[in-house]
Amino acid sequence: MGRKDPGRKVKFLVNSVGFEKMAMLAVAVLAAGKGTRIKSDLPKVLLQIGGKSLLERVLNSSKLLKPDKSLVIVGHESDLVIKNSCHIENLQFVIQNPQNGTGHAVMQLEKHLREFEGDLLLLNGDVPLLEPKTLENLVNEHQSQNSEATLLTARMEDPKGYGRVFVDDKNNIESIIEDVDCTNKEKENNLVNSGIYCFKWKSLINVLPNLNSNNNQGELYITDTIKMLTNTKSLEIDDINELRGVNNRKQLAECEVFLQEKIRTHWMNEGVTFIDPSSCTLSEDCEIERDVVIEPQTHIKGKSKIGKGSHIGPGSVLEDCLIGENVKILMSVVKESRIENNTTVGPYSHIRPGCNLGKESRIGNFVEIKKSDIGNGSKVNHLSYIGDAQLGKKVNIGAGTITANFDGRYKHKTVIGDLTKTGANSVLVAPICLGSNVTVGAGSTLTKDAGDNTLTLSRSKQITKDNWLR
Ligand code: UD1
Ligand code: CA
Repeated sequence: MGRKDPGRKVKFLVNSVGFEKMAMLAVAVLAAGKGTRIKSDLPKVLLQIGGKSLLERVLNSSKLLKPDKSLVIVGHESDLVIKNSCHIENLQFVIQNPQNGTGHAVMQLEKHLREFEGDLLLLNGDVPLLEPKTLENLVNEHQSQNSEATLLTARMEDPKGYGRVFVDDKNNIESIIEDVDCTNKEKENNLVNSGIYCFKWKSLINVLPNLNSNNNQGELYITDTIKMLTNTKSLEIDDINELRGVNNRKQLAECEVFLQEKIRTHWMNEGVTFIDPSSCTLSEDCEIERDVVIEPQTHIKGKSKIGKGSHIGPGSVLEDCLIGENVKILMSVVKESRIENNTTVGPYSHIRPGCNLGKESRIGNFVEIKKSDIGNGSKVNHLSYIGDAQLGKKVNIGAGTITANFDGRYKHKTVIGDLTKTGANSVLVAPICLGSNVTVGAGSTLTKDAGDNTLTLSRSKQITKDNWLR
């Protein structure tokens, strides 16, 4: 059971409902830059928050607008960016080489949008928290005002690093000046450019050739087109968090904090308890039912679902899991597995991909389980490795029991019937099949099957000599 098959219907935090089809719209994402300030070997747009790349986030919010075309401008490490994004449907990649600024990037769209008559929604690949609704408002505002350009702006307490937007009293934009090009006086303006624009495409291509690189970065700026266009509007929004750009690791961390806060608040409103909220992280694709308690230092990743009344943590990591009701997971790691109602896991268990832990089962201390079915009411309580195994109901696995599933080349299965009990320190050499109600003597290494209702053991007899003095 992997990421693509969560087995049950999962209700996501982000709902993709309610977007009307707009007049002709192309979306282009600027993702060609190197991201020097972030100091990464990866292109910046592939860094992640909430387990998804910045670029994927931008594309996810824009795709809900159902654009007629979606283009991504790539350049620095373009192969890597394309490889990481090609699972997203209907994307067209446009190469920008060299990367000579955001205006130069947009020029590369020309041959791809030659016949295009509509509007261009231009997004920065490093502004990852935009809500689809905000983008929709931008496009609607732009179209209803019949503007040549509309741009999302906000007032930021600390506008450092952002381009400053100068407007008249009717929100007409007079100019945009980059932080590095501002005078001290201009820097006092805290109305910032989000890097999110809607342009009338035919008007934009007419002015692109007029851009020049007379600025402190020697680049062609898309922002300089604004003063060459008419009827250009600033659409100021209140929630500055949505417009946060990621230029350095600090901003990356701030975006993560903001996103996590939002996800946790959502689930608290749905009836989930967090003991120490800020120490926990969640994916926005998880679903948590009411009266679940999330203890400190717990991380829920991927498409996980947790049923009513379960108690997760402290110190646990779940990824792509289906957890039933009233399950307890303590100090443990669980990945791509299903755990049914009233089961207890931990402390210190590692449940690896492909496990099914049945109802009321008990997986205890220092136990590793991989690709195995554990039947209802079974116990694997202490210091065991169970791999490629199928356990029936009410099986009792003694402390230190190991399924020896690997012969050095192939993996083999262990099958254990209902009510069977293995003694401490048993080694079950697979392939092997123990029937139901079998008792395995402690310390046995078994290489042969044993039928129902048997006692099976393989160990040398104990010898005790009387009056044995050294
Ligand atoms: C840009 C804006 C600034 C705004 C800020 C918002 C310009 C000139 N400035 O500045 O007004 O406040 O975003 O976050 O547009 N890119 C390319 N090709 C290039 C250069 C950049 O595709 O040649 C891409 C980058 O990958 C990035 C985006 O464009 O995704 C923005 O580039 P960045 O260098 O981060 O611009 P900022 O300095 O943040
Ligand atoms: Ca930026």
